[in-house]
Amino acid sequence: MKDINELTKEEAAAELGYLAREMAKSDIAYYQNDAPYLSDAEYDRLKQRNLDIEKRFPELIRPDSPSKRVGAAVKSGFSKVTHRFPMLSLADVFSIEEVEDFILSVKRFLNTSEDIPFMSEPKIDGLSFSARYENGIFVQGATRGDGVTGEDITENLKTIRQLPLKIENAPEILEVRGEVYMAKADFFALNQKYEAEGKKTFANPRNAAAGSLRQLDPKITAERKLSIFAYTWGEVSKRPWDSQANFFDYLKEWGFPTNPNNTLCQDIKDIEKSFAKLMEIRASLPYDIDGVVYKVNSIALQERLGFLTRTPRWAVAHKFPAEQALTTINNIRIQVGRTGALTPVADLEPVNVGGVIVSHATLHNEDEIKRKDIRIGDTVVVQRAGDVIPQIVEVILPKRKETSKEFEFPTTCPICGAHAIREVDEAVRRCTGGLSCPAQAKERLIHFVSKDAFDITGLGDKIIEDFYQEGILKTPADIFTIEERNRGGDDLFSAGSGLHLERKEGWGKKSVENLFKAINAKRVISLPRFIYALGIRQVGAATSLLLAKNYGSFQHFMQDMINKETGKLVSIDGVGASMATDMVEFFQEPHNIEIINRLLEQITVEDFVDTANYDSPLSGKTVVFTGTLEKMTRSEAKAKALDAGAKVAGSVSKNTDYVVQGADAGSKAAKAAELGITVLSEEEFLELLNGQATVGTTSL
Ligand code: IVH
Repeated sequence: MKDINELTKEEAAAELGYLAREMAKSDIAYYQNDAPYLSDAEYDRLKQRNLDIEKRFPELIRPDSPSKRVGAAVKSGFSKVTHRFPMLSLADVFSIEEVEDFILSVKRFLNTSEDIPFMSEPKIDGLSFSARYENGIFVQGATRGDGVTGEDITENLKTIRQLPLKIENAPEILEVRGEVYMAKADFFALNQKYEAEGKKTFANPRNAAAGSLRQLDPKITAERKLSIFAYTWGEVSKRPWDSQANFFDYLKEWGFPTNPNNTLCQDIKDIEKSFAKLMEIRASLPYDIDGVVYKVNSIALQERLGFLTRTPRWAVAHKFPAEQALTTINNIRIQVGRTGALTPVADLEPVNVGGVIVSHATLHNEDEIKRKDIRIGDTVVVQRAGDVIPQIVEVILPKRKETSKEFEFPTTCPICGAHAIREVDEAVRRCTGGLSCPAQAKERLIHFVSKDAFDITGLGDKIIEDFYQEGILKTPADIFTIEERNRGGDDLFSAGSGLHLERKEGWGKKSVENLFKAINAKRVISLPRFIYALGIRQVGAATSLLLAKNYGSFQHFMQDMINKETGKLVSIDGVGASMATDMVEFFQEPHNIEIINRLLEQITVEDFVDTANYDSPLSGKTVVFTGTLEKMTRSEAKAKALDAGAKVAGSVSKNTDYVVQGADAGSKAAKAAELGITVLSEEEFLELLNGQATVGTTSL
């Protein structure tokens, strides 16, 4: 080998190219094919030579250089990445019957009775990632985050040797998505090492993978052994594959690891077989899986099926059955939630359920305790399924002791003493204390800063609890005045009267500053997040998004609710009468209005613009369907309209923009004519839709 100091620039460039290719090849042989052909020493020598040449010719450093696998640490947190196509999650099902229902719903949506091929894939228990390639070069890595915005983990992903830094014959823009995980063996080795060093160990491989990937210093990520499987895509400038199976061929060609147990299933029998097989080999796999994912194989069909708010209609996660264990109930106590619901919780003798120590289980409500005849001191079966809170399945009656005690459900709130009442037809007993009940007030604060709401990570449950106890935070509006109050007044007499959080135990100047920074970063908030943050009963993240889409601005929504104007509300597909009642009631409560007004003095709620579809002629329009459609099913038509940014209503009113009329249309068509509303035939509707170009970039 030539001395580096004697290399010409051309020679150096050629050798760097050779080294990048050679080491990439060796990475694939080592990590993907389990067939290493370079010894560790040889590999390290190549790595060192690459570094040395780059040191002499820094201008020649290639984007796919192996030295790029460990970059510099970022100083203050990860920067944000907005996903060009949201990273969605999957709906969970727990039985083969539910899988059958899912397949039926797919067939119904597509109006077919033929078998539809599905790809069955192990559901890897890790964290999803996105890797973006431009002209074949890896340029950006991101976590899923909330699905819309993730964190920039480019440097961390680079340290994972299974991830190709350069790919050949790829579309100009290609975003490959998959799962980062830690193999069981690597997890045990890491924990053993940490234990020996007296460091805190990880609870399971998933946590270890998460902790390792989200390291500000990629050197630490590089030390932990992480692996990946690729399984889907995000943005692509061109999509030459026409099925999920075909996509896997491309992934393999480009050098991405794909799961060897992915199987194409022709019918439900095949699906059942693949599930049974994965259940059987689960324990012997070198990594954790928590279920099986079934995806419609054909991309054309996937496109027809489209998406619900957060999940695709063409895929489902079949989770493995819950794991169970026996233990005893030490006590039953009541928790009071954000909306005042009294939830009984069982304190259990801690027990290991499928690798996780469980010490509490929810008992849901008083009827549930009666129905299952659960008593303090009983021996019970607890089960844990996925991330769900552990539950009590049944009492082992023969083991009941004489000392077992029935639980008397309180009729007053154990926190504030107000009456706790059950409304007719309601299983839940609720505290009537409203926000004067500390439990409700606290829970509301916790909800307000939670992930799908204001997402203020610096304000954890414990801090909220402390601040509430000390009167620093009483309502959500107080969060945004805390900095001002911390300083105290400006004038001479009140100087020193501030909160001075920095003097509190456990706090310092820096941590207080960071808290204010985190709060101030959220002074501008999107409409769906704001609505969700209010914590109106029954109004979850998906409903908040629907409301934002339909009202556009917070003022519109609030005015309608204050005026008890629910016409628009109940015409929204997905909002029912009982939800509407809860919303109106929320806005009739003067205390809530006061909090909202105080909040609006501090923050800005952005109007909602459906940017994904802003150029669609249907964007923002209200559409009503009537009659029998011929080219597509009603659900498909509805989904198409929603995807194009339209709102779909069930009945015709003066707010309707278009009525799409199929065969045998009834009174709705007549009403449209009466109100002078544009009536479209099915063809005209499709033409309107197709005027909108969303080519190439499909699915997620
Ligand atoms: S597909 C729109 N395939 O499961 C569908 N997800 O609950 C996008 N996951 O966030 C996901 N293995 O982190 C898909 N073979 C697989 C998967 C998989 C694991 C995870 C992924 C996703 C979550 C959905």
